Amino acid sequence: MDYTAATYGDRMAGVYDSFYGSVNVPKRIDVLEELAAGGRALELGIGTGSFALPLAARGVEVHGIDASEAMVEQLRAKAGGAEAPVTIGDFADVEVEGTYSLIYVLNNTLFMLTEQEEQVRCFENVAAHLDASGVFLVDAFVPDVTRFDRGREVRARLPDLETVRLDVSTHDPMQQLVDFRHVLVSEAGIRVFPAKLRYAWPSELDLMARLAGLRLRERWGDWDRTAFTSKSEGHVSVYERA
Ligand SMILES: C[S@@+](CC[C@H](N)C(=O)[O-])C[C@H]1O[C@@H](n2cnc3c(N)ncnc32)[C@H](O)[C@@H]1O
Repeated sequence: MDYTAATYGDRMAGVYDSFYGSVNVPKRIDVLEELAAGGRALELGIGTGSFALPLAARGVEVHGIDASEAMVEQLRAKAGGAEAPVTIGDFADVEVEGTYSLIYVLNNTLFMLTEQEEQVRCFENVAAHLDASGVFLVDAFVPDVTRFDRGREVRARLPDLETVRLDVSTHDPMQQLVDFRHVLVSEAGIRVFPAKLRYAWPSELDLMARLAGLRLRERWGDWDRTAFTSKSEGHVSVYERA
């Protein structure tokens, strides 16, 4: 089976919300609502709508793009999801009408574009869909290659008494590519969920922004807007037109 933009979502749709729950939703919605500043918002990789639907419930007009119909079906089944304007497609292309005051991509989803060229294209297409004072928010981890021992990592979790979850990764430092599988082991059997991420350091993202005619306005270490430092494990970065 070839890995495509839809593979992750198609395989994860039924378990996604139970894997990731609702981490810090209200704080994130506060920040997103403020940045939307009364205008329209667009989420890249909208998924099951964990953030888009609460943001829309605040009165913001939220659109979304996702490659996986199965993920969007989950969104449609939730309150407010049936009418949400969602385009099925590749968010590197940002094939939507008009401009937005806020375009955002959460939870490392930008890194699901597995080639540098796709990430650069995404920044360029985002820039073309921003209002004059619009902003692009990226929420992502800061890469930590020390996690990998000879290019491999296995993390084990025990989410409940019946289940073992293993996250098994291989790392290609040349391509900045992490190929991983979530493996769920329980009495019901073994399930495998494939994913690939092409990580980038914040400085590389800033360069992509510059190529697209954007510049960094703010960068926080987390959604509480704490200062971004060399110890930060993640970042929330806000780009605006240069
Ligand atoms: C990690 S999930 C995040 C979902 C949601 N943003 C959230 O934070 O809960 C990533 C989402 O991006 C979608 N996705 C991955 N690559 C994509 C691509 N190239 N184009 C469009 N959607 C993509 C997946 O189908 C999935 O729904």
